[in-house]
Amino acid sequence: MDNILITGVGSYLPKKIILNDSLPSELNTSDEWIKKRTGIKQRHIVSGNELTSTMAIEATKKALTKANLDSKQIDIVILATTTPDKTFPATAVKVQSELNMKTGPAFDIQAVCAGFIYALKVASSILQTSNLDKAIVIGSESFSKILDWNDRSTSVLFGDGAGAVILEKYKNYNNWGLLASNFYSDGNFSNILCTDNGPGTDSKVGKVRMNGKEVFKHAVEKLSSSLKDVIKDANLCVDDIDYLIPHQANIRIIDSLSKKLNFPKEKIINTVDIHANTSAASIPLALSHAVDNNIIKNGDIIAMNAIGGGLSWGASVIKFGKPNWRLIF
Ligand code: ACO
Repeated sequence: MDNILITGVGSYLPKKIILNDSLPSELNTSDEWIKKRTGIKQRHIVSGNELTSTMAIEATKKALTKANLDSKQIDIVILATTTPDKTFPATAVKVQSELNMKTGPAFDIQAVCAGFIYALKVASSILQTSNLDKAIVIGSESFSKILDWNDRSTSVLFGDGAGAVILEKYKNYNNWGLLASNFYSDGNFSNILCTDNGPGTDSKVGKVRMNGKEVFKHAVEKLSSSLKDVIKDANLCVDDIDYLIPHQANIRIIDSLSKKLNFPKEKIINTVDIHANTSAASIPLALSHAVDNNIIKNGDIIAMNAIGGGLSWGASVIKFGKPNWRLIF
């Protein structure tokens, strides 16, 4: 079996930062409430010409540089997003054309906050079953555009941004790259986290609606079970994991997960304070942050898990980088 290695990671955050204290006063919220209930201190928000595609392109360029690759060497572009530039075509084709990649499939995946985990699994399966060698997997979101800025129970939770990773197929690099992954959905819970409208119902862009307490409960349970399963499928145990990158939704969900699995907090990457919940971008953004800050290093074993609207959730375990590889910063 070929090995699918993760050989580059990059990210992009919009320049505009909104601190909790700078949120619209009509929301009647406070820095204290938001920090205590979620751990969030600030979020980046798109402005001017920034779009899901422009953020994805910038993140991709950085990932390509770090993998020492030219965009023309990429065979597939998969972009996880809930906030595409347009209903169609896929935002992935915009990334493809802007980066001068002329051939190969380019498409979007819609699994909300679990989108990056889904995209990683789909991309690696395609590489393993085709003659294609290199993929770019992106999570990019302008979630601020689908928030109801009159609803304090949802609008304070999210931010915008993009992260991208390069996948490369190699032979004889056993126990490197994607070691195991899983993905699940249960549409019975579709109404606890969704938008209230959409192009298929009444042509409007729907706004986010959420039953926060129900989502919280499912998040802890499903993130734990998928993580336990994926670690077992990789023939590893919790102690073998160097770092866990959970979906960055809420520090209380992350703390509950750590307690439930007896997973040491110091091995958990936490960026929810500075990025807020960036949906499909949350995991690649956190991975990029950890690599750029010299926390995650070549050869580290990393577990990742996410859950979002659907409900859809899943987990992956990777051995990051490639043998004898010097990370480019
Ligand atoms: N500022 C001030 N008060 C607020 C705010 C706010 N931003 N939001 C809600 N409140 C108020 C409510 O109106 C309520 O007031 P009341 O008692 O007078 O009615 C009170 O705070 C308590 O509200 P709850 O909804 O019960 O608050 P809870 O402790 O459940 O926290 C939260 C809400 C943070 C959303 C929590 O349920 C949660 O984190 N859920 C997980 C959801 C999540 O992370 N979703 C992200 C998308 S899904 C995903 O990525 C996993």
